[in-house]
Amino acid sequence: MNAAVQANEVQVRVWSRYVRLFHWSLVGCVAVAWLSSGEIMKLHELAGYGAAALIASRLVAGLTGSRYARFSQFVRGPRAVTSYLADMRRGRERRYIGHNPAGGAMVIALLACLAAIALTGWLQTTDSWWGVAWLEDAHKVLGNAILVLVGLHIGGVLFATVRHHENLVRAMFTGRKRAPLPEDIA
Ligand code: HEM
Ligand code: HEM
Repeated sequence: MNAAVQANEVQVRVWSRYVRLFHWSLVGCVAVAWLSSGEIMKLHELAGYGAAALIASRLVAGLTGSRYARFSQFVRGPRAVTSYLADMRRGRERRYIGHNPAGGAMVIALLACLAAIALTGWLQTTDSWWGVAWLEDAHKVLGNAILVLVGLHIGGVLFATVRHHENLVRAMFTGRKRAPLPEDIA
């Protein structure tokens, strides 16, 4: 067996326990907030605040957390993102152990959109902003935009899963991924 194939079978730890817990708790909060919106408002607000608290904790982890949780590890400029997307179209994008540049941009878009949703939701509960029509509209529009982002996010995850023959959803549960080959980006 050559070294490349051997390396292939070794697993490395990528997502810390915190990242995994953060991810699936966020999915739960967003799902509950979405499904309860306009129906069970106490639950809606609770789930929304839960999402906001998770995002706040993720900002701290992005600065001080484990290697693959750090923003400096996966947030790339627009040029890196577009060049990665162009590589994807040509079917020659490289495998990343952490988030790839497009995935990293999506993480930021998801976090920013959810933070804006929570902010516009909370403001509606304050005396000064209660009943302000544009704020209500903004909350609803963003509340629907998050569905589009999540759709693209899941699409990207499935695309990379197929292209690189590794189950990324399982990795978000186990924290482990196939060890990098020399041509991968660790
Ligand atoms: C409300 C829905 C969702 C939101 C808001 C969301 C948000 C996020 C965020 C913020 C990350 C970055 C994790 C981190 O570094 O902390 C992430 C990564 C990830 N998410 Fe989701 N997610 C959602 C739904 C899902 C679903 C349903 C799946 C499974 C099909 C999924 C699979 C993944 C995977 C596999 C990663 C790691 C991607 C990679 O390998 O780069 N997500 N998600
Ligand atoms: C992940 C976070 C959240 C999501 C995805 C979300 C989503 C939504 C959506 C889609 C609507 C529109 C419902 C409709 O058209 O009937 C809505 C309404 C609303 N949300 Fe949120 N929301 C979130 C967080 C919050 C928070 C934190 C608060 C306040 C503490 C809040 C307060 C409200 C209020 C007051 C409405 C207006 C209800 C109405 O006009 O019938 N939301 N939200």
